[in-house]
Amino acid sequence: MEKESYEFMKILSIDDAKKFAKEKVVVIITGVTGQDGSFMADYLLQNTDYEIFGGARRLSVSNHENVSHLENNPRFHLINFDLTDAHSISQIISQLKPSYFINFAAQSFVKSSWDFPAQTWETNTTSMIHILESIRLHCPYCRFYNAGSSEEFGNVAYTPQDESHPMRPRSPYGASKAAARQLVKVYRESYGLYAIQGWLFNHEGTRRGEEFVTRKITKAVARIKHNIDTGVPFEPLELGNLDARRDWSDAEDCVQAVWKMLNQDQYSTRVPDINIKYPFDTFTTDDYPNWWTKDLIPNITEYVVSSGECHTVREFVEEAFKVAEIQGQWYITDDDPTSERYVYWKPDGTTDGISLVKVNPAFYRPAEVDHLLGDNTKIVGELKWQPKVTFKELVKKMVETDLKA
Ligand code: GDD
Repeated sequence: MEKESYEFMKILSIDDAKKFAKEKVVVIITGVTGQDGSFMADYLLQNTDYEIFGGARRLSVSNHENVSHLENNPRFHLINFDLTDAHSISQIISQLKPSYFINFAAQSFVKSSWDFPAQTWETNTTSMIHILESIRLHCPYCRFYNAGSSEEFGNVAYTPQDESHPMRPRSPYGASKAAARQLVKVYRESYGLYAIQGWLFNHEGTRRGEEFVTRKITKAVARIKHNIDTGVPFEPLELGNLDARRDWSDAEDCVQAVWKMLNQDQYSTRVPDINIKYPFDTFTTDDYPNWWTKDLIPNITEYVVSSGECHTVREFVEEAFKVAEIQGQWYITDDDPTSERYVYWKPDGTTDGISLVKVNPAFYRPAEVDHLLGDNTKIVGELKWQPKVTFKELVKKMVETDLKA
């Protein structure tokens, strides 16, 4: 089915945005048109009375589908944002003086990072300097979150991976996030900024981009189901490494973990309640040495966010077809994994040889992270976060949404 096309939502100029920001608690969420950004915006609009400014990169084709339901929300505003433009980042931060800056914008597709290593670095790493410098100069009280990744652990040394696991990235993407983490740490320790980067393991949902394996599978299952039901021939779903193991959580659960990380003084008994004063728009750079002190910053920490369960891509495929009530059977010839197929299994127990899935070596990566499993003990214990949606519920929700579409 063709994707619906969405109209562009109104994008505010900085001058107009400033009027909405006046005397409000301002939250900037970059990457707001993506899965995590849009779920974060929904969560904060429902659970706070803060003014939400969503940063989106200007494209000539509208990518506003994930936030189109917020178009008439008076507390949600779209602004132009590009991580590679230091000048515009500085403009936005100096004018809006946010209390929270949540950076979900990124070059987030691991496979593309081999094709565009320099662009991945510019977007995911160099941009940290632009944002952190602007926060330091214009609103050092701002709480900053950067999206970190289990890809930083890479070629894992032990399982499950916790906060002490060494960084051993296997992709330009993983390296870019590992380096960004060091920058966030340096700014936290040098200037006392509330700047953190959690380690989010894979997290999925109904707004997931179609290039990521889970959504690629659930979209294809919906397409194949439709064709089987209507008797139309179909092409199989083509995948790469079926044996990769991932710890998949629900993205809506994960944005709550991010918000808890940004408000540790409310959730953790280990840190004091410091009651930071927000001077908002009355604040100028010259003011802050008078009242700002690094000692105001609580003893903040960074957390692994994961479901604590891992499954192979193969299991995701099986579960997704099961939800659509299509039975299949794996076949492999000559012990060559690239010959592997998942073949349609008819209700009478025979197979007519139609492939539902086949392996295509083009989807393999130059280097793979084979086994990711996160240890979420720390965030569960200290910030009282709990993953709510199970693996089966997540697959069901995604497949059912794509079946309806
Ligand atoms: N995308 C994709 N497409 N992946 C495939 C395919 C395919 O056709 N076939 C097998 N895979 C395997 C990949 O090799 C990888 O091992 C696994 O499926 C998951 O791939 P992705 O869904 O693309 O996610 P990712 O694990 O590389 O990265 C995601 O999670 C990270 C956290 O661990 C992204 O969201 C990253 O931005 C995030 O940091």
